[in-house]
Formats: sequence, C-alpha cells, structure tokens
Amino acid sequence: MPWDPDKYNRFINQRSAPFFDAMALVHEKPALQAIDLGCGTGELTSHLADKHPDGSFLGIDSSPEMLRDADKYVKKNLRFEQRSIEQELALPETYDLVFSNAALQWVPDHEHLFAKLIKKVKPGGQLIAQMPAQHHNIANRLLLHLATESPFKEGMKDFKRDSPVMSLDKYATLLFTHGGTDLTVIEKIYPLEFKNVEEVYHFVGATGMIPYIEALPEALTESFINVYKQRLAEHFNSHPVFYPFRRILLSATF
Ligand SMILES: C[S@@+](CC[C@H](N)C(=O)[O-])C[C@H]1O[C@@H](n2cnc3c(N)ncnc32)[C@H](O)[C@@H]1O
Repeated sequence: MPWDPDKYNRFINQRSAPFFDAMALVHEKPALQAIDLGCGTGELTSHLADKHPDGSFLGIDSSPEMLRDADKYVKKNLRFEQRSIEQELALPETYDLVFSNAALQWVPDHEHLFAKLIKKVKPGGQLIAQMPAQHHNIANRLLLHLATESPFKEGMKDFKRDSPVMSLDKYATLLFTHGGTDLTVIEKIYPLEFKNVEEVYHFVGATGMIPYIEALPEALTESFINVYKQRLAEHFNSHPVFYPFRRILLSATF
C-alpha cells in the first residue's frame, strides 16, 4: 500500500501544528541552504521556503505518490527530488539547515542515523527534527500488539514494526556527544479531536498502518482492519474522541 497524499491531507491541519513548532526553531541566517528530508507533498516545505525568501530549499522524499503534485510548490528558492533519506545521507552535500518533519520515524537505527544527519550540517548550521513519540502513542501500540496475534503474526511472517524512536534523554545525549549546542529536546502533546473512532482509524491508516497492510496477505487485510478498528473503539469509547498525540521536537547547532 503506497503513501496516498489525499488520505494524508485529510488531516493536514492536525498534522501541520507540530511542523510549525519545528519551523519556529529555525535560526535566522541569510541565504540559508536547507534540505527537508521526507518532505511528503511539499506543501509544508513551501512554508519554510516562503519564510526564507533568500534561501535555497531542497525537499526529498522516496514516495513518487507523495511527490506527485509537488511541482506546484516549486519556486525560485524551492525544488524537489525523489530519493530516500538513506540515499541522501550517502551524498557529500552539506546544508545550513537539515530539517525533517514526521519522517525520521520511518528510518531505522537512530544512533547511526543521527550521526549521519549531523555530518550533513555545515559548521554553525542546525539540525531540526520532529517525530511522533511512537512508544507512547496508543494507536501505534495497538497496531504493534495486533501484529503479534494469530492469524496476523503468521500471515505477516512475524513482521513487526518496532519504532526506532528513542527517549528524549538518548536524543539529548546523542546530540551533545556529537558536538551539538543550543539544544532543544522536548516532547509536546498535540490535542487532537476526532468526531468518532472511524476518523482516528483514517488518521492512522494514512501513515502508521501502511507497513502492516503491505506485509499482510490480501486475505487477512480486511479482518486486520476490522479488529484494529474494534481495538480503537474499545480504547476510545466516548465522542468526540480526544487523542493526546505526543511528539518529539529536536534542535541543535553544530
Ligand atoms: C508523515 S509523512 C510527512 C511528510 C511531510 N514531511 C509533512 O510533514 O507533511 C512521512 C513522509 O516520509 C516519507 N518517507 C518515509 N520513509 C522515507 C525514507 N526512508 N526516505 C525518504 N522519505 C521517506 C514518506 O514517503 C512520507 O512522504
């Protein structure tokens, strides 16, 4: 199941609040050279570019579906290229700002990932990342648990998406030991309100569920979705549904 920009954009307002908090951490710098890793549709990257008209912004994403309409955001100081974060990290280019909103949780092994991300930052530049604190978020935990149950466990050949997202202490220590200064390492709850539990399902369905649906044989997909919806309904049993979405914001200068 590929990424679907239409499903993703259904909750664009709820998804963009943490992006604007991450954007507020960007230090002003003339002619800022920046990269947005896992830029998705490019819509939020274009806000970054608009805030720094004399800068130069590159958005990269591995999903052709998400980048489908990114051309409409291309401007003098903003362009997009399709490649993975892993491919980007193998390239020699460095940036004043290495930025990533809601994407690094898809890349494994954060100890090594962050060491490589920091190498992409020019001296005096900044690394900023925003990610969901997946170990705490109930929708992720329910998915992870369901994947360990029969018949899904067998159907998915023991596939389970353990989150690579680490604790705040670990990120702070990692940034510091790699020479980071002016650290911001915080968690914030974004209060999401959904009309009903079906909406919570669609919210998670557009992101966290994707690898599970990809791993499941088609014959089990419908029952996996039904049981998942049932579990969500057991947990979120009042209307409207309040979902305290916990996210991590990181920034450091190198
Ligand atoms: C939740 S979306 C966030 C998109 C955008 N940053 C935003 O805030 O709207 C996650 C994005 O990460 C991309 N992604 C996931 N794994 C990736 C990887 N290894 N390399 C590049 N992009 C990746 C997906 O294609 C998707 O567009």
